[in-house]
Amino acid sequence: MSRMSSIQAPVAEELKSFQGHFKAAMRTDVMLLDRITRYIIKRKGKQMRPLFVFLTARAVAEGSEPLGERSHVAASLIELLHTATLVHDDVVDESPLRRGFFSIQALWKKKVAVLVGDYLLSRGLLMAVDREAYDLLKITSEAVRQMSEGELLQIEKARRLDITEEVYFDIIQRKTASLIAACCACGAASVGRDEETVERMRRFGELVGLAFQIKDDLLDLGEGERIGKPTGGDIRERKMTLPLIHTLQMADASQRRRIIRLVKYRNQESAAVQEVMDAILKGPGMDYSRRKMTELTAEALALLEPFSASPAKAALQDLVEFTIQRKR
Ligand code: IPE
Ligand code: IPE
Ligand code: MG
Ligand code: MG
Repeated sequence: MSRMSSIQAPVAEELKSFQGHFKAAMRTDVMLLDRITRYIIKRKGKQMRPLFVFLTARAVAEGSEPLGERSHVAASLIELLHTATLVHDDVVDESPLRRGFFSIQALWKKKVAVLVGDYLLSRGLLMAVDREAYDLLKITSEAVRQMSEGELLQIEKARRLDITEEVYFDIIQRKTASLIAACCACGAASVGRDEETVERMRRFGELVGLAFQIKDDLLDLGEGERIGKPTGGDIRERKMTLPLIHTLQMADASQRRRIIRLVKYRNQESAAVQEVMDAILKGPGMDYSRRKMTELTAEALALLEPFSASPAKAALQDLVEFTIQRKR
């Protein structure tokens, strides 16, 4: 059994019915939209967020009955919101590739991608309203607000290349960690756990989410194998990621000046992007980022201590490890 399928095993049933829920949630009678949503379903991603929802729900639930409708609503709602933000993110980043194939904005153009993203977002929110799952709606809407703030904060900071590690963590907390935090908070809330447990799991997801984005930034530097999206994109978009920030911090003045100039004025030239990537790959920022991921995930795992041992808890622990070991 592969690593991923053993992580999925404790919630295999739930994941199976998730596929149906997710597909049904996008149904439409507008032909263009129908074509695009089918395209999205065919090129699905790793679906780690539904996995976080279901494994958390199972690991913290007090009884052992099968997960109910609320956990399913949370999983579909969050994957819809996630998909919406990716469709929009590729417009923002002008990225031609997503999940190993053309992005929506590349195939159907930006105006279509903006509207499709809005459609997915509204279908997600409506799903929660229809089921009167207002507590889950509140948790996820809060995350969507933070994600928009995070992407805008990132754009604001890309204009000046002097961002600190502190600002980097503020950006990734909002743009990425907030949604993984929502997965775990909703997982706990969906099985009726008390506020303290919901908050504990929100914090757990937030820590894992920070590590998740650091890993994504490392993958952008070409650390994985066929990751299904372009590499070097962060430098082309002048995004200051942790490996770059730390490399700059440790560089001597002339090297720092050279890297900053390349990122600032020559970020559209492949040779310049490659030079910056090589400098980062050789520099101290890679190991530094890996150490940070390990610290964050260790802190996250410690939060699971109060829950009794179960296959779901073990799989959730493995999912944390997978988050920082994954190759795409
Ligand atoms: C990509 O998320 C966006 C980030 C927050 C870095 P995933 O890596 O989970 O994307 P998919 O859904 O598997 O394609
Ligand atoms: C994460 O940042 C974006 C979202 C939270 C939507 P990136 O821009 O690095 O994500 P990828 O690499 O395009 O998936
Ligand atoms: Mg992007
Ligand atoms: Mg990225």
